[in-house]
Amino acid sequence: MRHFLRDDDLTPDEQRSVLELAVRLKENRFGVHPFAGPRSVAVVFDKPTLRTQLSFTLGVVELGGYPMVVDGNLAQIGVRESIADTARVLGRQAAAIVWRTFDQRRIDEMAAYAGVPVVNALTDQFHPCQVLADLLTVAERHGGVDALPGLTLGYLGDGANNMAASYLLGGATAGMHVRIGTPAARPPDPVVVATAQRIAARTGGSVVVTDDPAAAVAGADVVATDTWVSMGDERSAAEAEAMFGPYRLDADRLAGAAEHAIVLHCLPAYRGKEITDEVIEGPQSVVFDEAENRLHAQKAVLTWLMEQR
Ligand code: NVA
Repeated sequence: MRHFLRDDDLTPDEQRSVLELAVRLKENRFGVHPFAGPRSVAVVFDKPTLRTQLSFTLGVVELGGYPMVVDGNLAQIGVRESIADTARVLGRQAAAIVWRTFDQRRIDEMAAYAGVPVVNALTDQFHPCQVLADLLTVAERHGGVDALPGLTLGYLGDGANNMAASYLLGGATAGMHVRIGTPAARPPDPVVVATAQRIAARTGGSVVVTDDPAAAVAGADVVATDTWVSMGDERSAAEAEAMFGPYRLDADRLAGAAEHAIVLHCLPAYRGKEITDEVIEGPQSVVFDEAENRLHAQKAVLTWLMEQR
């Protein structure tokens, strides 16, 4: 039984297989039906969602299944019923479980008891489905899945959030050079950085954490950013501006990246905060390809997980 709870749950070879499958599923969208029956996939949300609900709902339907969307506010997992009991109830009726929740320990516990594959649709610590979609988007623009190793991705913003951690792990797994540009007060989890460094040593990638935003993006093939205030974060707008203002992705900052650099943002975007309107609407932005690629990448990971059983 395999799960996709964090980016490094896939080895480099496995990640490549999933991305190649995503490319094929994008070309032949309705031809693969691992959930034929239809079998159900429980898609559970403890936090707000738009892209994730849309892409998993459509994705499961396109894979021949039935998406059973569960509102976490009603289910109150871990409050009304323990995670372990909920996992076994869901696992008796669903072929797989997709969960967006808070602490990573919650999804680890779900996976330990569910008896079916569990997929992380965002936790406080990781957002691995988004980074798979991002890698697919990079591959489309920069020469294919085989061309990912050796590319440089510079991320600007909150280094302590889920996207930064997933870029570190997922990017290193892909053999990329990952640079996190973040204030010294918001470093990524050192354990995640050390894990990414170990992976990078095997894949030929590398990992840098810097508080210099110019150094993070200098010559980069890919420039990424994310909201300064993640879901569940209590930071005020004024605090966020004071802390992250120098890390805003504007045209001047982007000019320091490679000329062919593409711009990623997982959305929702706060224009004028972490990214300017000019950049997100500009010719280097691929954010809506990236949003579409959630569908293809997640279908690939679900299909792959069902094949491992
Ligand atoms: N870091 C953001 C990602 C949103 C898709 C958050 O957790 O809110």
